[in-house]
Amino acid sequence: MSEPARGRAAGKVILLGEHAVVYGRPALAAGLARGVVAEVRRGAGPALVSERPELGADERPARAVAEAAALLGLDPTTIVVTVRSALPAGAGLGSSAALVVAVLRALAAAAGRRLALADELTLGRRLETIFHGHPSGVDPAAAALGPVCFRFVSGEPPAVTRLTLAAPLPLVLGFGDRPRSTAAAVGGLRARWAAEPARHERLFDEIAAIVEAGVQAAEAGDLAALGRAFDANQAVLAALGVSSAETEALIAAARRAGALGAKLTGGGGGGAVVVVAPEPARVAAALARAGARTLAVTVGPRGEEVAA
Ligand code: MEV
Repeated sequence: MSEPARGRAAGKVILLGEHAVVYGRPALAAGLARGVVAEVRRGAGPALVSERPELGADERPARAVAEAAALLGLDPTTIVVTVRSALPAGAGLGSSAALVVAVLRALAAAAGRRLALADELTLGRRLETIFHGHPSGVDPAAAALGPVCFRFVSGEPPAVTRLTLAAPLPLVLGFGDRPRSTAAAVGGLRARWAAEPARHERLFDEIAAIVEAGVQAAEAGDLAALGRAFDANQAVLAALGVSSAETEALIAAARRAGALGAKLTGGGGGGAVVVVAPEPARVAAALARAGARTLAVTVGPRGEEVAA
């Protein structure tokens, strides 16, 4: 192994369609410029070294590393994987999927290989089951595609369509300090769906229609229509029981500050929100006053993230 072997993957923001995407409906998502870097060296593994002490209390990343090594035919007891993340964990920014894809890329490089995108998506989704039981694969897709805005439908292989946007999308992300559990949100919804399938399938269909309207709005550069799609999606997510008082408070603060639309993003159940904000500084200040950390992200015309 020429040392160290490196892999990088992106964080993500789900614009529309989280949760329903697990049930075969489309989602609209974008990769972020920030992400996770993994490095693989020879050593007495299996070991995962992270700059984030909170990972020490979570055995899932180390399991993902060991399983990824096994999938790529490497002996996990002979390697050490170091991970550096620019993504807060449990904030809806896809940190576990970015970790999985970065590790897969670094391990493949260590084995003298380069994985095809289709393999990264399949293996990424498989490894994400370690973090939550029923991943759609949208998070590893964003992690692998990087800063690109795309429509996604789950499957083996998934259907991924990169979008060309008529105008940049000014977004503000807000998240609280308390990490949320995607596994708990996805598992809770699955139990409610199993108890009342017809009601939930109807709500998932409503989200699918909202996503398609949002895709058209994003492509046309119609921020007002995209904002309306955000608000409509949030109403259905609340009906599905995956929103929270903390999320609703952040959304209300963003709307009062001139947001065109606001919704939870990712698993929900905590404080991660995404806002369509033509005046990002004003919305970010309002979210900060409401107790959130913020990140302004502008998704550029070809989906790339541009400086906010
Ligand atoms: C989590 O970022 C998005 C969910 O839709 C789960 C998934 O798609 O795997 C809640």
